[in-house]
Amino acid sequence: IKRNLILAVESSCDETSVAVVEDGTTVHSNIVASQIKSHMRFGGVVPEIASRHHVEQITQCIEEAMTEASVSYKELSAVAVTQGPGLVGALLIGVNAAKAVAYAHQLPLIAVDHMAGHIYANRLIKPLVFPLIALVVSGGHTELVYMKEDGDYTIIGETRDDAAGEAYDKIGRVLGLAYPGGKKIDEMAQLGEDTYHFPRAMMKEDNYDFSFSGLKSSFINTVHNANQKGEPLNDINLATSFQASVIEVLVSKTLRAAKEFKVKQLLLAGGVAANKGLRDTLTKVMAEELPDVELVIPPLAFCGDNAAMIGAAASIQYQKNQFTDYALNAKPGLTF
Ligand code: KG4
Ligand code: ZN
Repeated sequence: IKRNLILAVESSCDETSVAVVEDGTTVHSNIVASQIKSHMRFGGVVPEIASRHHVEQITQCIEEAMTEASVSYKELSAVAVTQGPGLVGALLIGVNAAKAVAYAHQLPLIAVDHMAGHIYANRLIKPLVFPLIALVVSGGHTELVYMKEDGDYTIIGETRDDAAGEAYDKIGRVLGLAYPGGKKIDEMAQLGEDTYHFPRAMMKEDNYDFSFSGLKSSFINTVHNANQKGEPLNDINLATSFQASVIEVLVSKTLRAAKEFKVKQLLLAGGVAANKGLRDTLTKVMAEELPDVELVIPPLAFCGDNAAMIGAAASIQYQKNQFTDYALNAKPGLTF
């Protein structure tokens, strides 16, 4: 019987990652080389620096992933790689490395959408049950995706401006936190109270879209005005209030979508899925309001960018014989 054993490569942003995944469920290895320290002093990801780090890291990551998985290239079924969305220079490193390995070992090549990867991170934990909705929240995207079957994606709502993670990182900078500030704000938010009552955007509107730039502006104005008047600010309560606003909007819209689309499963995905407040609130609200809908939340290791999730998405494409030729190019603006 033919195995579904995939070598997966991810390099869309600031993590160089390579994994060996079997059947989209078993992670034999998942090497993640983070570049965060190199971007920190610039307060965000510098594309040129990201590309250079990917070049330096990729070969070693592939070797480590193969060694840790204890498989030979002969045993592999296919090579998969993130084609987009992401930084073009960063994507190109992964795409070219994957093409080289596939060509050298005459293996089929699979092009994976990064966002599909985030969604399929959940399949590493639980079998997917359709129809489902995934709330994908990352540094670059915030979207509600409806799936009636494997590989079928409909965006039913998305952010009109900033992504959730982007908003976290921007207000993190205002609070003087190192990039990316999301994790630290989440930690601070566990300790305070929602005393600032920032706006909850688009809550009442009859759609599933989000907006976070108004919240960000309100946050920045509050800090600015207090500083001008010499009034004290409570950073812990600022973080708590910001997070309360983000979570209320995300959870209420997601819940409404899950009800309307009569889904069997709700998936949380993306870097912001690591947020403790979001995980806890969604778990509580779903148990109360939709106890028959299964909520799946990936463990922290599969929330941020990683190649295991790319291998998970690729396993489905492998089953469906969805291969690409060796002329594959990066697509920085790829969408469902
Ligand atoms: O999915 P990801 O690793 O990269 C993209 O595809 O964008 O997401 C990174 C984002 C960053 O904005 C980071 O601040 C955010 O995820 N993040 C968090 C937390 N951990 C990471 N945001 C809020 N709370 C967290 N615990
Ligand atoms: Zn991502």
